[in-house]
This record gives sequence, structure tokens and C-alpha cells, in this order.
Amino acid sequence: MPESPFPLARQARLAVFASGRGSNLASLLAAFPPAGDEPLAAVRLVLSDRAGAYALERAEAVGVAAVHVPFGRDRDGFERRADALLREYAVDLVCLAGFMRVLSPAFVERWQGRVINVHPSLLPAFRGLHAQRQALEAGVRESGCTVHFVDAGIDTGRAIVQRRVVLEADDDEASLAARILDQEHIAYPEAVRLVLRGEVRP
Ligand code: GAR
Repeated sequence: MPESPFPLARQARLAVFASGRGSNLASLLAAFPPAGDEPLAAVRLVLSDRAGAYALERAEAVGVAAVHVPFGRDRDGFERRADALLREYAVDLVCLAGFMRVLSPAFVERWQGRVINVHPSLLPAFRGLHAQRQALEAGVRESGCTVHFVDAGIDTGRAIVQRRVVLEADDDEASLAARILDQEHIAYPEAVRLVLRGEVRP
């Protein structure tokens, strides 16, 4: 697979992987509706490792294929099924949106340059879990979010878009997470556009 397949000469087909409530999925569905009104891209598939994820309901509500693929202890099985679905739906770009699993280096290699993720910090600061808590504990004055290419490391791939959030004196994890999330909802569609236009490459 070439390093960057973008730009395409047609509408791109997006898949979103989400483990939870899927507010970032909602922002991607609004920007790239499945009805195909946006020439650049449309969301065609939503996949969740969690059976009850609200993200699956959001997808079904707007007529997007929504599939639960169990992860459990079997990452290989998950990735085989994910690969098959991505091919079946002819997906061009995978957007991880609150997807709380780590994909194998082999999977990332197969989809190189075609998987992006949103993370609630200004990477390279505060990789991994509880990024907002890490920011509060570090006493930084600002944090934010990063949309980045996924590589074999955890939250290490090239940044596509970052948006900043200033910490308030009375912030707790929930208040900071909520303000960062507002910025994620702006950053994610913007990053998808930059990638699909070939303006930012892995
Ligand atoms: C978002 O804040 C996202 O950045 C974070 O989970 C939340 C998902 O919210 N992702 C990670 O921490 C990944 N390491 P959402 O389900 O409402 O989109």
C-alpha cells in the first residue's frame, strides 16, 4: 500500500472505531454525513469493541452500518474481523474516536497512513490513559487535543491538528475533559479534511 493514498479522485469512505459514547463520532457524522452530501467524504461504517456502546446507536440512528466486534483477550480475532469489514466497506480512512484498544503493529502497518486518532492532550505531552488527569497533576497552564496518524507506538504518530485549552484554577478532570472535548469536535473533522486533501501526510 502506498504511503499516502490521498487525495482521491472521488468521495472517501470513512470508518469510525469507537468504544463509548461517541461524541467525536457525532461530529464526524455531522461533517461527513452518510447521505453523501459532502463531496470529500462520508462515514460508511462504525465499529465498536463494546456491545453496548452508545456510538453504535448513534450510527444506527442515521443509517450507518454499525458492527460490534468483540475484543476480549483476542486481538488477532478482532483485527481479522476488522480487516474484513474495512475491505467489505471499501474504507479509505479509519478514524479512531474514543477507541480504547491498542491496535497491533501489523494492523497499523497494513493500514499505514490510513488510520488516525484523537487524543485529549497536546502530544507528545501526556500519552496514554487519563491524559486530562496527567495534565492537572503536572500543573501545566494549558493542554488540549491532538489528532494524529497512528503508528506502531502509543500516541506517537505525526500530529495533524492540535487545539489548545487553558487550564482554570478550579478545573477538575471532568471540567477539563469537557472543554478539551469541545475542541476535539472541531479538530477531528478539520484533520480528516487535511488528510483527505493530501495536505498532511504521515
Ligand atoms: C475523547 O476525549 C478522546 O480524546 C478520548 O476518549 C474520549 C472519547 O469521547 N480518547 C482517548 O483517550 C484515547 N486514548 P467520545 O466517545 O465522546 O468521542
